[in-house]
Amino acid sequence: MKVLVTGGLGYIGSHTVVELQNEGHVVVIIDDLSNSSKDVLKGITKITGVTPQFEELDLKEKYKVQDFFKRHQDIDGVIHFAASKAVGESVDKPLFYYENNVTTLIYVLQELQKLKCQNFIFSSSCTVYGEADKLPISENSPIKPAESPYGNTKQIGEEILKDSCQINLDLKTIALRYFNPTGAHNSSHIGELPQGVPQNLVPYITQTAVGLREQLSVFGNDYDTKDGTCIRDYIHVTDVAKAHVCALNRLFKNQQSHNFEVFNIGTGKGSSVLEVIQSFERVSDQKLNYKIVDRRQGDVISAFADTTKANTILGWESKYSLDNAMLDAWNWEQKIRNK
Ligand code: UFG
Repeated sequence: MKVLVTGGLGYIGSHTVVELQNEGHVVVIIDDLSNSSKDVLKGITKITGVTPQFEELDLKEKYKVQDFFKRHQDIDGVIHFAASKAVGESVDKPLFYYENNVTTLIYVLQELQKLKCQNFIFSSSCTVYGEADKLPISENSPIKPAESPYGNTKQIGEEILKDSCQINLDLKTIALRYFNPTGAHNSSHIGELPQGVPQNLVPYITQTAVGLREQLSVFGNDYDTKDGTCIRDYIHVTDVAKAHVCALNRLFKNQQSHNFEVFNIGTGKGSSVLEVIQSFERVSDQKLNYKIVDRRQGDVISAFADTTKANTILGWESKYSLDNAMLDAWNWEQKIRNK
């Protein structure tokens, strides 16, 4: 099948392209290179032996999007990653986030609805659950008011899909709500390339260990958790990527019970910040320089997934452990710094 991957040179996008190509799909990537690099194509080629088609395109340019879809009417499915994802930045630049994440989604859907095959996978996030009342978090957990414009764009994105599916039964969509994707491809040919100072825990850890940052700040150790630090569900990015292939197969095989479905993508296991640090220290065989500081505003205390729905309906389950993810993240960090 021919699959369009928007944002296909980004972190989760590039790993998904690898898994799609491993399954024999023909991939076309659109990316505006705002948070990625053309070098990622080389990494994908090294792993799979196939160079995907690539067009540099900013999805905000509506007429270019229209032109792209006119030239690619034989697309069988779209996986839509292209979006901005920095929570803090979204607070400072809300209009940019709404334009970049919501307007572009609308443009892509408008063109998709002109095609024969209208299969669509949306990158959503566990952020839609906020501080959930019950753990592990199932897909039935209520959606909480968004903590940031970024989080709001994910909620709005899901609403747009739901409303569009109601009126257009040819449109078949799945939203995947990721928990905390981490790690890198185990070949170290592709991985995360955070711009500037990382906001996320794992790249901050690996950059500290490699000497790029002086010290990791652990945001709070007085939460009501096993060791006082926040709990998250860290999932290997290759597992996340494979979930997209399973979701797409469900659409291709017409297996949906409703044309808008959501699935949690996590491991089902919650790890504290200190456990992540311990895992890193174990696999890298070194001590990490860290200190405990005040809580970070907006952090939920605990979030980990109930993955029963994805396991049973998508036939997908996570395979990699936290140690696997930390080792792959560490190998990747060392590779890019020693280039
Ligand atoms: N943390 C630190 N120090 C750091 C960075 C993070 O202690 O330097 C802690 C955070 O306080 C949190 C945990 O590590 O307890 C994980 O933080 P991340 O920033 O890596 O991940 P979040 O769970 O906060 O954010 C992720 C995604 C967002 C998404 C959000 C939904 O990065 O895109 O989950 O909850 F919106």
